[in-house]
Amino acid sequence: MRFGVDYYPEQWPKSRWDQDIRLMREAGVNTVRLGEFAWSIFEPEEGRFEFGLFDEVIEKLAGAGIAVILGTPTATPPALLVAKDPTVLLVRQDGRRVSFGGRREYCFSHQGYRGHSLRVVRALADHYGHDPRIIGWQIDNELGHEGSDQCFCEICRHEFANWLKRKYGTLDALNEALGAVFWNQTYSAWDQIPLPWPTIGQHNPLLRLEHRRFAASQVTSFLKMQVEVLRQRTSGQFVTHNFIQPGPAIDQPAMARELDIVGFDNYPVWGESSEAPEAWQPALALDFARGFANRPFWIIEQLIGAQGWDVLGYLPRPGQARLWAAQALGHGAEALIFFRWRSAVFGTEEFCHGVLNHDASPGRRYEEFKAIGKLVKEFEQLAVPGSAGTPEAGRVAFGWWPDNLWAWQIQPQSRSFSFQREFDRFYQAFFALGAEIDLLPDDRLWQGRKLVVLPVPMLMRQEQREALRAFVERGGVVVAGFRVGVKDESNRVVESALPGGLEDVFGVKVDDYEALDARQTVNLHLANGDVGAGSVWCDYLLPITAEVLAVYAGGARPGLGAVTINRFGKGLAYYVGTALDEKTFSFIAKEAMLRAGLEPFVLPPGVEVRRLALASRSGLPVYMVMNHKPDEVAVNVPGYGEVVGEPYGVQFVGA
Ligand code: GAL
Repeated sequence: MRFGVDYYPEQWPKSRWDQDIRLMREAGVNTVRLGEFAWSIFEPEEGRFEFGLFDEVIEKLAGAGIAVILGTPTATPPALLVAKDPTVLLVRQDGRRVSFGGRREYCFSHQGYRGHSLRVVRALADHYGHDPRIIGWQIDNELGHEGSDQCFCEICRHEFANWLKRKYGTLDALNEALGAVFWNQTYSAWDQIPLPWPTIGQHNPLLRLEHRRFAASQVTSFLKMQVEVLRQRTSGQFVTHNFIQPGPAIDQPAMARELDIVGFDNYPVWGESSEAPEAWQPALALDFARGFANRPFWIIEQLIGAQGWDVLGYLPRPGQARLWAAQALGHGAEALIFFRWRSAVFGTEEFCHGVLNHDASPGRRYEEFKAIGKLVKEFEQLAVPGSAGTPEAGRVAFGWWPDNLWAWQIQPQSRSFSFQREFDRFYQAFFALGAEIDLLPDDRLWQGRKLVVLPVPMLMRQEQREALRAFVERGGVVVAGFRVGVKDESNRVVESALPGGLEDVFGVKVDDYEALDARQTVNLHLANGDVGAGSVWCDYLLPITAEVLAVYAGGARPGLGAVTINRFGKGLAYYVGTALDEKTFSFIAKEAMLRAGLEPFVLPPGVEVRRLALASRSGLPVYMVMNHKPDEVAVNVPGYGEVVGEPYGVQFVGA
């Protein structure tokens, strides 16, 4: 397996390099990533390239048996380039252009910037593209992160209109889709179409959604442009990109298709976070990356110490970075590269702590890094890296698609709604039952699955409605959150009763609905006699053929269903009409798992058990038991009985 660090030799005197490399070797490092912010070192003047510094360090690394992933440096444009043409800089929604001085501050649509990027990537590829010491390339860095996903400049306005023209063909078709007759917004020329800049009132919901789709497609095409250069000019080297968690207007599945390996940056805590995350939080991020990747998935940046720019928060406790590293392996990462080697003494990231201290000494974090190196070796003996332990049918599939997220971000509908929070609520419920979860884009969601979960699937295309229907009909179990199928692909409200086109599948009609603010909750009476609570939103469900599992005991329509289950064809469809409290959700999730033939596996809070691919000598699976809590805990591992999990400990059971 690949184990390593992100290394910035350009930030330190050359006289230090040998010692750095010796310490890396002693810790078991076999891979480093270099160069992703070093444009001006590669190209000190436009068109003049210098590779001496990196040639020298690559030579030294190779001498120590350390392979290199090289970043294309386009996340940080040179000052010279920006000074020459400030229109490369991104414009915020309020119309203000950002300043040079941070990073990722460029516009993806800017042809000039694309030209400069091509030049530097070509030069790098020509110099290093057949060098066996370079195993792969990382395109740019965290595309779309830090608010860099959407630009609102004049160039983007023009490109957006062109994009709409390609998509809709005629203005009549666009006007029709927008419903431009509303508020007199009918366009008679393509250059009348605005970007969603501030206006009085609010822009058209489809215009806003199309702008997200356009912005995402610009990011993908920027990535693709670089990938194509590398494909033409290199050999035997892979291409990757380091993604971050969901959020920005990027289309991760589309981008992943262009790559050989999907990279992910895994920071369970960052900046001001005051507490350690719950075990499920980094797990969700990892499952997300593995799911959209659909190919090898590597961690290109993994946290080793506290991170932050101007403010720091939670300090990972001794052992916790090792635990999070193990968790990444358990969720399918095939390589672990840590951010960063030595803590910087200058620049914005002085407080992003690396493996070595500021004074270059190998302290506590270096010792932990070494321990992680050992863990990686141990893991390799026990599991096929990247393989999951349970066949697909035994895992729970969660569906997500970018335009549903964007549609919710555009119209949250309840002041207390957050897509991430609602998604988390579903994930948390199944995670606590020991479910192995895949987060999948909709094109890979249904095949070979028994249980599919759709948190808040508001925007659904016709094919998605049909896929859901066919899945349940064939015998699958679906659990869907509120606002099911309210919108179509054009971000319009469907012209049928809710859940749109799926009344018979869920066996209910949404008779009314209501947004709750952050202080409001509604009591629920459960079929098992318990009392629960709903928040954020209420879909008031009128059962047609469904059985009611929880009924509203308050709100606007007491007596109507809050959670229902319906038999349709050979399968079952659950409708969860409100944001459920943890206990009620656990009851529903458990029921759904059992009905789908999956075995819930209730764990003490904070404990995570991952099944590894290989069988132990006894024929039982090998398990990795992780204790995310600071106290010792007893865990019942199937087939093995009680195992003691040490604080922040990682144990291989059955090995
Ligand atoms: C990542 C980024 C790195 C560095 C790091 C600090 O998101 O890719 O360049 O900024 O965070 O924790």
